[in-house]
This record gives sequence, structure tokens and C-alpha cells, in this order.
Amino acid sequence: MKIIIKDNYNQMCEEASKVMKEVILKEDVILGLATGSTPIGLYKLLVEDHKTNKTSYKKIQTVNLDEYVGIPQNHEQSYFTFMHEQLFNHVDIDPKNINLPRGDVKDLNKECQRYNELLAKKIADIQLLGIGGNGHIGFNEPGTAFDSVTYITDLQEKTIQDNSRFFDKIEDVPTKAITMGIANIMAAKKILLLASGVNKAEAIKELVLGDININCPATVLRNHPDVVIIVDKDAASLL
Ligand code: F6R
Repeated sequence: MKIIIKDNYNQMCEEASKVMKEVILKEDVILGLATGSTPIGLYKLLVEDHKTNKTSYKKIQTVNLDEYVGIPQNHEQSYFTFMHEQLFNHVDIDPKNINLPRGDVKDLNKECQRYNELLAKKIADIQLLGIGGNGHIGFNEPGTAFDSVTYITDLQEKTIQDNSRFFDKIEDVPTKAITMGIANIMAAKKILLLASGVNKAEAIKELVLGDININCPATVLRNHPDVVIIVDKDAASLL
């Protein structure tokens, strides 16, 4: 596990964009992508790079980690909308190469199966991750088995509270999500985890220094052969 500590959020994103670009330049690759506040600056840099250097996404395929259950795909807070607003609408990616799980279909079990089968065929060359204040990766909350595959998860109170900043009121925040399981995430060839801010410091400390245990799902990454963690000083403040 390689840990890179940068002075601030912008520098963290700069460093992350170099790691991502190295993979993107190989062209015929699969990117595992994440949503949330953390990767926004990285996506901005990738869009800038596409515009300035004409880096192409024509042959790139993507698989996203997760999606809320119970809101339509075109909802302003869906992860489908997020990904289009932050990245997909601004690069030359082919829409048919974009893959996200759907949280707005009737048969969610069937959707889990569909996405899981898709992931078995599309192994990410790099999987981008954020980390929850409680150590979650994707929406794999503390207590999730390390051999889990795509499933419907109940979001924990802390996650619902953290995510409420994007909704008018806390009652509007979805309480369930469809997420890649931990085994799906670990199947990626390379993993890039980003964290910024003091509210991530405990989780980063546990990830780097704690025992590998299901109560901090991110600790599983220590079992992966190729992980890069880029954090800012605040997120690294307890190391
Ligand atoms: C997002 C995801 C989550 C976030 C995590 C951190 O697709 O799966 O694990 O990465 O909740 O979120 P932010 O970046 O908003 O702090």
C-alpha cells in the first residue's frame, strides 16, 4: 500500500489525476468510478485535461460503485446524474460504455444479479474510492462481509447524516443503496483511494494502522496488492 500525503485538497486531486491519467492513456481500459464530494476536483481536472490535451474516452468503459435506491435515475441527487454532471457530459465517452447499478427498478434482486454478472466480465483496471467517516467503501457499511458481492444495503445513520447535505431535509435522503460488494471492489487490478479533511482522519488512521476487520471495511484494502492512498494533511493528521 502506497500512501501519499499532500498539503491540501487541490494537491490531492492533482496527484490523483496523474494516477488516473496513466490508466486512461492506455485507452482500452475500464475505470471503476466513485461519487461523493471527494472526487469532484479530480473529475474537474480530467475534464480540463480532455479539453486541453484531447485525452480521449472513446474506448474507455466505466463501472460505478453504487447508486441510491428509491429515487429515479434522473433525480438531481442520483449518482447517475452526478457522474454525468461531473464527468461524462464533458468528455467523449460513448454512453453505451457507461455502467451504473440502477436503484429505481422493481426487481432489485435481479438488478443486483445483472450488475454482478456485468462486473465479473468488466474487471476495473483502476477502482477509484472515497471513504466514509465510518470507514465504508462503496456503500459497504461497517459489519459487511469481505466476500460480499453487489447487494442492497441499509445506509447507517452516520452515512444518512453525512449525505443529508445534498438534500433539502434529512427525511429526503434515501436509506438504501445498491452497491458493489467488497469482493467486487477487491477484484479491481488497482485501487486509488482519496480522502480529504479532518472528518476522515479516524477512518484513515484505522485503514493504515488498525487491524484488518469488518468493522472498518476499508481495512480490507491492506489485502490488495496494488493500492494507492492519496490524502491531504488533515485526513492524515492521526497517522
Ligand atoms: C461514493 C461512495 C462512498 C463515498 C464516501 C465518501 O460512490 O461509494 O463510499 O466515497 O461516502 O463520500 P464523500 O467523498 O462525499 O466524503
